[in-house]
Order: sequence, then C-alpha cells, then structure tokens
Amino acid sequence: MPVTVNAADNAGAYVTGVNLNKLQASETGVLKQALGEHGVLFFRDQSLTCANHIKLAGHFGHININRFFTPLSDFPQIAQVLKEPDQQKNIGELWHTDHSYDQIPALGSILVARDLPGSGGDTLFASMFAAYDALDESMKKTLNGLTATHSSRHVFGKKAHEGTDRQALSARFHNSDAATQNAIHPVVIRHPISSRQALYVNPQFTLHINELPADESTALLELLYHHCQAELFQHRFNWQDGSVAFWDNRATWHKALNDYPGERRLMHRITIEGESLSG
Ligand code: SIN
Repeated sequence: MPVTVNAADNAGAYVTGVNLNKLQASETGVLKQALGEHGVLFFRDQSLTCANHIKLAGHFGHININRFFTPLSDFPQIAQVLKEPDQQKNIGELWHTDHSYDQIPALGSILVARDLPGSGGDTLFASMFAAYDALDESMKKTLNGLTATHSSRHVFGKKAHEGTDRQALSARFHNSDAATQNAIHPVVIRHPISSRQALYVNPQFTLHINELPADESTALLELLYHHCQAELFQHRFNWQDGSVAFWDNRATWHKALNDYPGERRLMHRITIEGESLSG
C-alpha cells in the first residue's frame, strides 16, 4: 500500500499506508518531505515498540537525549512525558516549540501514546508557516531581519521550580544546573527542508527581540502570540491507543491540554537533532 499524506484541518497531515515499526528507505524521504511541507504528521494504529521508536527516529537524524526530561531506564533515548492521577500540572501546557533555547535547535520530536486518560489530553498544534503567511506585508517587512533571544532558565532552571505551582513539575525534570544557555535566532526563519518562511518565536522560551527596546519587544511579541494562537492556524490531535505524532519544531508550536484531572497520561518522546537556523 503506498504512503498517503492527507492535509489536516489548518495544520499538519494524516499519514496512512506506513508501518512505523518497519519504515522503508523510500518511505523516509516521503515523510521528510511531508514534514517540511505540513509541519506535523499524525499516524494511527501503530503499536510501535520502544526499540523501533528509537530506530524510526534514527532515520531522520541523530537522537538528542533531552537533558531535562526523565528518561526511561531501559531506553535512555526516550523521554517520559508523564502526568500521574495525583498531579495537577502537566508538561507542555503553554504554547511552545521545543529546544528554541538551543543555538542548534532540535528538528522535532516523535511522540507516542502509551497510557491515555479516558477522555481529554489532546495536543494542539499551530502552523507557524500559516501564521507567517497571514501577516500583512508591512509586518513581514518589519520582522524580517530581527532576531530574538531564547532561554531555558526560567522553565528548567533551579529558580523556575521554586514557585509552589511549579514544584509539582520539578520531580518530572532533572539537571536544572544545565539550564544556563541562551540562544539567538531570526524571528522569521527559512525552513531547512521546504525553504518556506515561518515565525520562530514562542511564548514559553523566547525572552525578547534583540533590536527593540524592552517595551516595544514585549508589545510586538504579545501581538505575534495573539496572532499565532488563532484557531485558524490550529489542529487539535485526539490521541488514541497506537497514535504517533511527529512534529517539526521549525514549523509548528504545540500545547498539551491539561483537562483530565485524576487520570494518568504517559507519552514517550524522542527528539531528533536539527541544524542552525537562518532567515
Ligand atoms: C511536549 O510538549 O513535548 C508534550 C506534548 C504532549 O504531551 O502532548
């Protein structure tokens, strides 16, 4: 059966005709192109084993062992994204793109559903290609040439976990000493696979726009965040047993909904290394 890629509403695409446990070389190229074009790929009914999850990620680049997430003891390449029934906070509730705090940000992640709540726990994805395309020409002109500083300190660093609402999360992260770096990236990037332009700032990790005074930077970022959160650019992915999502950080934001109180949700995430970004 050939691989079929069907665009989803607003962001991403659903892929059928592929067994991720046994990805063929010819299919890797199709998925890579589709990822560059759509920003996130959704798969159903996969029964992907942990060993094949690692093998699958290896088809797209080197695995980045996330320094903050707790890994599986048998498979250190796999990070756990976990919320237990007695925990209030989940991981990834604020809109973000992973690893923008690295100077060479990760390409993306492959997330596999392992234990899902009875209902809820969907993930929202937003297309930063579409968000950029929808800006008016004068805003595009203003943004091209600007750069922004991103950091992990306020999210994964020691101080980040001092507040009471964040303490519940700190047990699920480690290595807070490693949260020291800043990174600078263009506000508008050219996607390394598709060359499409995409907005590359996000509410979780972007600190400020470097070329603007603080108040103007804050106002511009708020305006962009408001624009990017329009439903018009979003797809809501409803996880089922066997679901897998493969997103590209250079083309999308994501947000994990925290609407399943008292229930467990466990996902396995492998992150793939990327490359430097340019405008
Ligand atoms: C993440 O932000 O990496 C996790 C997304 C999710 O759990 O749906």
